[in-house]
Amino acid sequence: MRLIVYTGKGGTGKTVTSCATAIKLAERGYKTLVISADPAHTLSDAFITPDIAYEQKQVLPNLYALQVDPVAEMSKQYNTILSYMASVFSAKGIDETLAYEIAMLPGMTQLFSLLKIEEVWQTKSFEAIVLDMPASGEALRYLYFPKLVGSIGRKLSGIAGLFSGFAKVFQPISSIPVPSKEVIRSEVELIDRLDNLSDIIKDNDVTSIRLVANPDTFSIENAKRAMMSANLYGINVDMAVINKIMVDSTDQYYARWASFQQSKVEEAKANFFPLPIREVQLYPTELRGVEMLSQHGDKLFGSDDPAGVFYRGQPYRFESEESGVRMTVQVPFSEKDDFDIERIGDHLSVGVKTAAGRIVNIVPLPTVTVGMKLSKARLEDKKLTVLFEKKPNLDHKPG
Ligand SMILES: Nc1ncnc2c1ncn2[C@@H]1O[C@H](COP(=O)(O)OP(=O)(O)OP(=O)(O)O)[C@@H](O)[C@H]1O
Ligand SMILES: [Mg+2]
Repeated sequence: MRLIVYTGKGGTGKTVTSCATAIKLAERGYKTLVISADPAHTLSDAFITPDIAYEQKQVLPNLYALQVDPVAEMSKQYNTILSYMASVFSAKGIDETLAYEIAMLPGMTQLFSLLKIEEVWQTKSFEAIVLDMPASGEALRYLYFPKLVGSIGRKLSGIAGLFSGFAKVFQPISSIPVPSKEVIRSEVELIDRLDNLSDIIKDNDVTSIRLVANPDTFSIENAKRAMMSANLYGINVDMAVINKIMVDSTDQYYARWASFQQSKVEEAKANFFPLPIREVQLYPTELRGVEMLSQHGDKLFGSDDPAGVFYRGQPYRFESEESGVRMTVQVPFSEKDDFDIERIGDHLSVGVKTAAGRIVNIVPLPTVTVGMKLSKARLEDKKLTVLFEKKPNLDHKPG
């Protein structure tokens, strides 16, 4: 079974690319499901097929489509926990409406969309699932959570269950509501499901993330950050799609855009190195409908099987050292190139002079480096090694 996840900035073409991939998979005989967490009618709009909603609907032979309803998914698994958490905040004097808002953590709706994958996976009724997902590290972060708390979490829940009877006695004193057996059971269930999901997503033979960007600075940087997070979490990224590239024109206005975009395509290639890149032009009309989506699929994959794993590896590597963190990024230039490096907020900007002009490689930095200083950068063998050093802790200085 394969899970192919398309992610990228808003409007770059994730939905159409997911649908096109799904069509090609179905044509090859894989029983395929395409899932989108976009607003309700998105898949209907893309396929120009009515009524693709929260229930699976067959669109073509071997091809099924489904919209996720984040609210329904959430109430399946999280309502009990949510009301408990809200009651805790409420007990502390926070207004109930606000308590619910606080209990709803960022990225939660996306996480529940991902849990739909876990549910479908357990039914074993598809050979390929294509997921259309916005770019955000938040949801991926929750997938790691069960691994961190894992058995500890479960043990604690068990203990809490055991003690909840006693705790009730103290409740008037502590003024914090005691979790009911039901809350604890919901928690354990949620952790179990996240655990399964995490296993699916981290299996590099099963799951591939594919980045979708346009030839512009913003979507390239956004996709690059998604790639960094995925690498950090051990999830394989196997392709980048640069979509909506304008073709050259005799009109000066369009010709200027085309030439600007060409430079951005070069920049994207440097940024996503060494991932395989698929370039797709901006079609003369809006990309919609089964026929056009199918042609888009041909452009993307040619004679390749979209179920293949197109790249395996880690463009980013992070190693913790005693004095800080060593980060290794694969880049398409060598020590002979003239490059400069600058840290700007939460990313490094690496500029390189090439025949095609100056190319800027954006290197997003993980949170761990926030309190650290960039101490060394070395370019060798198409690898950029950057050392971040912990700053001396001033609080503990004697005197
Ligand atoms: N190569 C292309 N040529 C022409 N139109 C395109 C191309 N790729 C995408 N489009 C159009 O761009 C619009 C946005 O595409 P799509 O909805 O797939 O993006 P998205 O990344 O899913 O957006 P969102 O973040 O809002 O979900 C759609 O109208 C789609 O038909
Ligand atoms: Mg979309």
